[in-house]
Amino acid sequence: MSNDGVNKGRRRLLIGATSAVGAVGAVGAAVPFVASWNPSAKAKTAGAPVKVDISKLEPGQQAVVKWRGKPVWIVKRGEEALANLPKLDSNMQDPNSNASEQPAYVPNTPIRAIRDDIAVLVGICTHLGCSPTYRPEIAPADLGADWVGGYYCPCHGSRFDLSGRVMNGSPAPANLVIPPHHYESDNVIIVGVDQETA
Ligand code: FES
Repeated sequence: MSNDGVNKGRRRLLIGATSAVGAVGAVGAAVPFVASWNPSAKAKTAGAPVKVDISKLEPGQQAVVKWRGKPVWIVKRGEEALANLPKLDSNMQDPNSNASEQPAYVPNTPIRAIRDDIAVLVGICTHLGCSPTYRPEIAPADLGADWVGGYYCPCHGSRFDLSGRVMNGSPAPANLVIPPHHYESDNVIIVGVDQETA
């Protein structure tokens, strides 16, 4: 191996060992956990906050990070997706998230987010704990003509919108949980620390 190759390899190793900023997954694909840049496994188990850089997240893309052993989804919603959310209210079990778990600083609106375009959700179904699948497509054959993007739980068929609100007819009893989080800057989210205590 040339010196150049060795140096590049070392540089990559150093970046992997020290960076705490996340990466962004592909549109619509199942995005694996982005774990290598997180704090140590021990720190994560203890609930260490996770820093996520969303500067490269495009509308329709979702980043997945791991916090306290759970997947946390960070999804960027485009204008059309945002406009659709209030129209879905009548098909939601808890449209204003009155009986669902979310921090007080997240508004109880269809948008359900500190920053309108960015939803931050714990990716665990509130039924029996499976992880739903991100389905951002419009009207896919298996989910029907009314589907405007959301999450589908493969275990027992619960459906959620892009704010994590559970749809009528789903076995899940509550909307997806919103974890404590805040914005360190315009494009950096800290998952695991409340807005007030930041
Ligand atoms: S665990 Fe998701 S529907 Fe049952």
